[in-house]
Amino acid sequence: MAIDITPCSPALGAEIRGVDLSQPLDDGTLQALKDAWFEHLVLLFRDQDLTDHDLVRFSGYFGTCDKAPPNEAANKLSDGYSPDLPEVTIISNVVVDGVEIGSLGASECAWHTDMSYNPEPADASALYALEVPEAGGDTAFLNMYKAHDALPDSLKERIGGRKAIHDATFTSAGGLRKGLEPPTDVSKAPGAHHPILRTHPETGKTMLFLGRRTNAYIVGMDVAESEALLDEIWGYTTNDDFVWTHQWRKGDVLLWDNRSVMHRRDDFDPSVRRLMHRTQLKGEVPFYTG
Ligand SMILES: [Fe+2]
Repeated sequence: MAIDITPCSPALGAEIRGVDLSQPLDDGTLQALKDAWFEHLVLLFRDQDLTDHDLVRFSGYFGTCDKAPPNEAANKLSDGYSPDLPEVTIISNVVVDGVEIGSLGASECAWHTDMSYNPEPADASALYALEVPEAGGDTAFLNMYKAHDALPDSLKERIGGRKAIHDATFTSAGGLRKGLEPPTDVSKAPGAHHPILRTHPETGKTMLFLGRRTNAYIVGMDVAESEALLDEIWGYTTNDDFVWTHQWRKGDVLLWDNRSVMHRRDDFDPSVRRLMHRTQLKGEVPFYTG
């Protein structure tokens, strides 16, 4: 069956039909998927039926699978769904015997880049939907090439060569990470320092790299000046024209380029089960300052 590639929106995302991810991919199919991925930034595969080994094999075609991130669900693989694969993280609100089996609960997750508080953020992330609520829990993606291109030249000049702190204290769902305190001075917040403008190592295009807004800080500025400039940048970035929102179905697999997109999640009814298995690819290829 030939591969069909259909854009999901004018902003980004493409649905791939004609590929069964429970089977190994041949070289021609893999190249077609990589080409589509770098063009559309997020790939959607529907109606998949995967084991965790299948999910890890598929993810590994695009890079090197990382182990479950710290403070995430590495210690929560006891729900009976996941074998002992350290590459698979559970994202879920399900509670068994009083213990959360996964991460992030049912609350909203603000715009973010996975693991950007680390010196080498993940190159990519994948999510496989095993159980989804009837409504809520949608995941939205934002094209950071388009966000960059929308900035006035004067603003690009002001942030060119600048770095920002990507605060490590909170998860994308707003939870405080173990062992950390909320920063009282964002200029001293723990977390990696990354250039705000970066060049993608595969496409050579420049993109904005913001991570998340909470507790962000542009290095070398007064806090008030940094706050004002960040608000100005984010005002151009969070534009519906750059966004595609995905409504999940059981069996969906999404693979996104964590370098060139941000993502967020809607909240959902906490009494309804939502269960995802997640992988991420190591940040192996260096980013370059744009
Ligand atoms: Fe995320």
